[in-house]
Amino acid sequence: MEKVKVGIIGAGGRANFQAKSIRDSGKGEPLIVCSPVEEEAKKFAQNYQIEYTLDWKKVIENPQIDAVTVSVPNIFHYEIVSAALKAGKHALVEYPMTLSKKDAEEMIKIAQKKNLVLWVSLTERLENPHLTIKSQLSAIGKPLFAFASYIAAGLRGWYVDLSLRGDPFSAI
Ligand SMILES: NC(=O)c1ccc[n+]([C@@H]2O[C@H](COP(=O)([O-])OP(=O)(O)OC[C@H]3O[C@@H](n4cnc5c(N)ncnc54)[C@H](O)[C@@H]3O)[C@@H](O)[C@H]2O)c1
Repeated sequence: MEKVKVGIIGAGGRANFQAKSIRDSGKGEPLIVCSPVEEEAKKFAQNYQIEYTLDWKKVIENPQIDAVTVSVPNIFHYEIVSAALKAGKHALVEYPMTLSKKDAEEMIKIAQKKNLVLWVSLTERLENPHLTIKSQLSAIGKPLFAFASYIAAGLRGWYVDLSLRGDPFSAI
């Protein structure tokens, strides 16, 4: 089977995780990485022996690319992922998928219309406690109150800038 050719958008912690996972799976291969920070993009490209660009539009316009992973600050998810889907690329987006329900619904619509895979990299979705609660919702009845906590200790860089991260509830 031919390997899925992937463009990695973002070159930080999560982008490294995605590129390594794709390579280790044996089913895909990262072809190009994009970061607006040249030093970072260059280092990442050298590490994986791939090309780099500073402009994410170059990744989604590349006809060799089948799919993209989008591991950048939350505020850019909608713009980059919806453009990638419109360009016919399958997309993996980190959580939070978008900062508004409306944008998330719009992204889903584009993926469905174009018959593309749109996956949110939130592993909790596949974990037992969450699946169990979801499967029991009708037995539980209408939830009246929910409680969640978001542990943000140690966050730095763009994570502490609300204009890039969005409000704390978006991630939850
Ligand atoms: N799925 C998970 O378990 C998980 C865990 C942590 C973070 N995340 C999410 O992953 C995303 C990335 O987080 P991270 O920890 O890798 O951050 P990071 O700071 O390590 O990396 C962010 C990258 O985005 C790049 N970038 C910034 N602006 C850009 C732009 N306009 N276009 C392209 N690239 C741009 C930066 O140069 C950097 O390479 C965030 O949405 C975060 O919420 C998901």
